[in-house]
Amino acid sequence: MTQAATAEAPAKSPFERVGGHPVLQAISNRFYDLMDQDPAYAELRAMHAADLTFMRGALPAFLAGWAGGPRDWFEANPGKCMMSMHAPFPIGRQTADQWAEAMTRAIADTEVTDREIADAMADVLGRMARGMARD
Ligand code: HEM
Repeated sequence: MTQAATAEAPAKSPFERVGGHPVLQAISNRFYDLMDQDPAYAELRAMHAADLTFMRGALPAFLAGWAGGPRDWFEANPGKCMMSMHAPFPIGRQTADQWAEAMTRAIADTEVTDREIADAMADVLGRMARGMARD
C-alpha cells in the first residue's frame, strides 16, 4: 500500500505572502515619497541624508530578510542590529510616530498580494519604530 502524501506544504513566509521584492520596493518608495513630500514628516525627513537613494535600496532589502525572504541585507551587514544601529539618531516619540504613520500609509497605499499580512507588518513595524523612541 502506498502512503498518501500527508505532509502539508510548508507555510508561506510573510515575504512571499505580501508579494516579494516588488511589493517591498513599492512600499519603501511610497514611504520615502511621503517622507519627502508631506510636511507632517518634516522632522523625520531632516534626520535623513538629502539623497534618499541609499535608503530606497536598504529598507526593502532589510524588510525582505526580516519577513523571511532573501537575507542579502543581513549577509552584507553581519551582526548589525536595527535597534542599536539607530541609537546615534535623536529619535523621540514624535519622530517615531512619524515613521510609524508614514509606513502605515505607505503599506495602505500599495497594492499587495495579501492585505492581512501587510496590515500585520504595518502593526509590527510601527511597534518597532515606537520602541526606538528614547523620551
Ligand atoms: C523610529 C523612527 C526612525 C528614524 C527616525 C530612523 C532614522 C534613520 C536614519 C536617520 C537612518 C540613516 C540613513 C540616512 O542618514 O539617510 C536610518 C537608517 C536605516 N533605517 Fe531607520 N529610522 C527609524 C526607524 C526604522 C525602522 C523601524 C526600521 C526598520 C524596520 C528602519 C530601517 C532602517 C534601515 C534598513 C536603515 C539603513 C541601514 C543600513 O543599511 O545601513 N528604521 N534610519
